[in-house]
Amino acid sequence: MAGSESRYGAFLEARERDGLRRDLTPVEAGDARTIRIGGEAYLNLASNDYLALRFHPALIERARAFAAEHGVGSGASRLVTGNLSLFAPIEAKIAALKQKQAALIMASGFQANAAVLQALLDRAVLGAEPLVFSDRFNHASMHFGCAAAGIREIRYRHGDAAHLGELLTRHRDASRPKFILTESVFSMDGDIAPLGEIGALARANNATLIADDAHATGILGEGGRGLSAEADVVIGTFSKALGGFGAYVACSPALRDYLINRCSGLIYSTALPPPVLGAIDAALDLLPSFELERTRVVDLALRFRLGARALGFDTGASTTQIVPLIAGSNHAALTLSQRLREAGFFATAIRPPTVPAGTARLRLAFTAAHRQADIDALLDVLDDRALPRTALG
Ligand SMILES: Cc1ncc(COP(=O)(O)O)c(C=O)c1O
Repeated sequence: MAGSESRYGAFLEARERDGLRRDLTPVEAGDARTIRIGGEAYLNLASNDYLALRFHPALIERARAFAAEHGVGSGASRLVTGNLSLFAPIEAKIAALKQKQAALIMASGFQANAAVLQALLDRAVLGAEPLVFSDRFNHASMHFGCAAAGIREIRYRHGDAAHLGELLTRHRDASRPKFILTESVFSMDGDIAPLGEIGALARANNATLIADDAHATGILGEGGRGLSAEADVVIGTFSKALGGFGAYVACSPALRDYLINRCSGLIYSTALPPPVLGAIDAALDLLPSFELERTRVVDLALRFRLGARALGFDTGASTTQIVPLIAGSNHAALTLSQRLREAGFFATAIRPPTVPAGTARLRLAFTAAHRQADIDALLDVLDDRALPRTALG
């Protein structure tokens, strides 16, 4: 270990030098709008709590009630002793929301992508190595799941259905099962995948379409159902607009049965605890009534995008509540983050490998807790020619 430790130290030094070192900033939660650091309140622009449900009394109350009635832990994996009666009604609600016949709750979005993809892409079960086409900007957990299955992904250009089509044609091989993997709303860019075109390509090529609906669920689509109607399998998380924690797969009953028998992340991990299930359950009940909040978030993000672009900032292809401010170099993103911090705004610098080199950015996320005045104050701070920015694309 002693020898290895110096290697880890060298890794950290290189990260520091390249402006890539990551640290855990100690914060206190504040409320849905703000975050507290060292006793000071900052406007929180870094949270995925898009509907401001994290502090909603209905979620807290049901979490409390489920804990009081069922305990704070579930005791074991769902297959061993943890498949509490609480799961079935919640899974029915998710299946209905996603318009699929079945759903399966998992521990986290990362774990769901990693473990579900590993299971679905198992060549021993499929009878041949699958051809897996993925958007280059897919979340790390999707790439992780492919790697765990020993798959070499065929990556298409981000959001480029024509390129996907070309690759599908080039790799036409009827003997190998095909899968297409995409996010619906991309987590670091806030743009939307061309799901209609991708769905048509999937059908034309007999490919299974798997969509990660993490950043659309709750906030986009009719009643907040997300944007995954085209997908055969939907993976998503409760940790973003639903305010809590945990994840799900929505799919056919047969696939659900298969996952119960083959998905390591479900089989070998303790079931979600009852208070977490309580928060999920209450959030799912509230979703249909949050139309005003959804509209407000969209309006706030639009107001910011227009203002930022007028100031010469590159907000990429964002059309949703996630708006990047692309700074370019790692140090430029850090400087921008620091400048906003000094002015009372909390926005984390996102750097490679999370985003491609040269596109380091602040990833701003707007929520129902934000106010128009917050956006205007933020734009006032950004109205400074000395701040780093890339040329408008
Ligand atoms: C697209 C996407 N999928 C999955 C995840 C992971 O979800 P979770 O935070 O629930 O592990 C995230 C969040 O980081 C995400 O952005």
